[in-house]
Amino acid sequence: NGHGNGARGALIVLEGLDRSGKSSQCLRLVSYLKGLGFPVESWHFPDRTTSVGNMISSYLSNESNLDDRTIHLLFSANRWEKRSLMEHKLRAGTTLIVDRYSYSGVAFSAAKGLDLEWCKAPELGLLAPDLVVYLDIPPEKAAERGGYGGERYEQLEFQRKVDQHYRTLHDPTWKVVDACLSMEDVEEHLRQLAKDCVSSCQNGKQLSQLWL
Ligand code: TYD
Ligand code: MG
Repeated sequence: NGHGNGARGALIVLEGLDRSGKSSQCLRLVSYLKGLGFPVESWHFPDRTTSVGNMISSYLSNESNLDDRTIHLLFSANRWEKRSLMEHKLRAGTTLIVDRYSYSGVAFSAAKGLDLEWCKAPELGLLAPDLVVYLDIPPEKAAERGGYGGERYEQLEFQRKVDQHYRTLHDPTWKVVDACLSMEDVEEHLRQLAKDCVSSCQNGKQLSQLWL
């Protein structure tokens, strides 16, 4: 790996409602960690570049319709198809900053009324993040930011439900950052959290699996 001591990279996940600022913050965090000399990559789910990702993308843009359970399993399959590459990168020392992961998978599908445990089941055995940062924003504030792209799910009523399900999933290991702070303040919080996490992984923290 980049530091030559066999240390693994960290799996860092950002979660939050649409328009909470995840994508911008992921990119800023990646540049910051790169600047410190860490090997780091930016990842994003759904990964629309695969054939499963193509099906997801056409569903999200309302070009196709799929049964709720079917699309749920496709989102999950989209993570499974990247699992071995993810593990390989982490073990080779690369830190991954991931924009959305299994928590989005569960929160968005559960918001449609699917059973929470049923939603979690296909995620079992995926790699567990070393750090989950939740960018916390009231659904009304996110909607005011504008820029909902018109994709399925990008509606206030639905985001309110997603918000409630994120709260159910939330556990004490999550770090919650107030997404209504300035970009710079959010960025600073993320830098500290990420640096601590990368160190703990370098210092021998083991990779584990969902769902703990
Ligand atoms: P998003 O991160 O907004 O993608 P992009 O930045 O490419 O527009 O994700 C698209 C939508 O998919 C978003 O509304 C959340 C939803 N989603 C799920 O329903 N399940 C999942 O497993 C994931 C990863 C996302
Ligand atoms: Mg979006």
